[in-house]
Amino acid sequence: MAQSDRPSLDELLSASHYWYHVIELEPSVVTPGWIDLRPHVEATRLPADLSGQRALDIGTFDGFWAFELERRGASVIGIDIDQIPPPDTPQSRWAEVQEQLAGSVPGTGFELLRRWFGSDAERRSVNVYDLDQEAVDGPVDLVFVGAILQHLRDPVGALERVREVLRPGGSLVLFEPVDHKLSKRSEPMARLRIAETIWTWWYPNRACLLDWVLTAGFTEVQELATSVVVDSTGTKQHLLTVHARNG
Ligand SMILES: C[S@@+](CC[C@H](N)C(=O)[O-])C[C@H]1O[C@@H](n2cnc3c(N)ncnc32)[C@H](O)[C@@H]1O
Repeated sequence: MAQSDRPSLDELLSASHYWYHVIELEPSVVTPGWIDLRPHVEATRLPADLSGQRALDIGTFDGFWAFELERRGASVIGIDIDQIPPPDTPQSRWAEVQEQLAGSVPGTGFELLRRWFGSDAERRSVNVYDLDQEAVDGPVDLVFVGAILQHLRDPVGALERVREVLRPGGSLVLFEPVDHKLSKRSEPMARLRIAETIWTWWYPNRACLLDWVLTAGFTEVQELATSVVVDSTGTKQHLLTVHARNG
């Protein structure tokens, strides 16, 4: 990348953008994001060395996980949607969502960071429901699914599309919110939240999240640690790491 293509720190930090991810730009300088996932990277048990592998980050937003996968050696594509309102927004809430997203340009943060890091990670505008191998230039070795299933009407349908692009034996890494209270129950269940928030359809319990993955056809489904992440509003989220395979 030409040096001149790199944004200045000032350009990056003064961009008109709602930052979702806190991302370190240089020691002690970070983007002003809504969620700081840096202390939780190890909980996901991503392979340390992904050299020579192709990785896909679903719902990449500012690209926190895409850049992390690239740092580990993978060649990375992050997908996200450019549509406003997002495709799974109920019609009755379109106006509210449009108002909240007025003026925002999807992909702004990812692009600034890609230029800042001199990264080869690529962001593509692909709805997860439309994902196929053609959309990502062939099968990938690893797919990262972070905090997106709760926004979807059909989480299992989305996971089926994800499986479609994973090579046989390829890895799925999930880092998804679960409902803390419901997770004390062993039977699968999810809380429907769309009446109380315009963004979120479901909060599954642990058993439900695992069942979504199994139902989508993944094997070797393994539940790892739950991380408690506090967002910038002080709200606690319980994010469960799940590993699985395609076949
Ligand atoms: C809560 S953010 C999670 C960001 C990131 N994956 C993480 O784990 O921190 C959810 C992301 O999913 C994206 N998204 C929502 N619906 C989508 C869809 N149908 N296809 C692709 N991305 C979608 C949103 O635009 C947003 O960037």
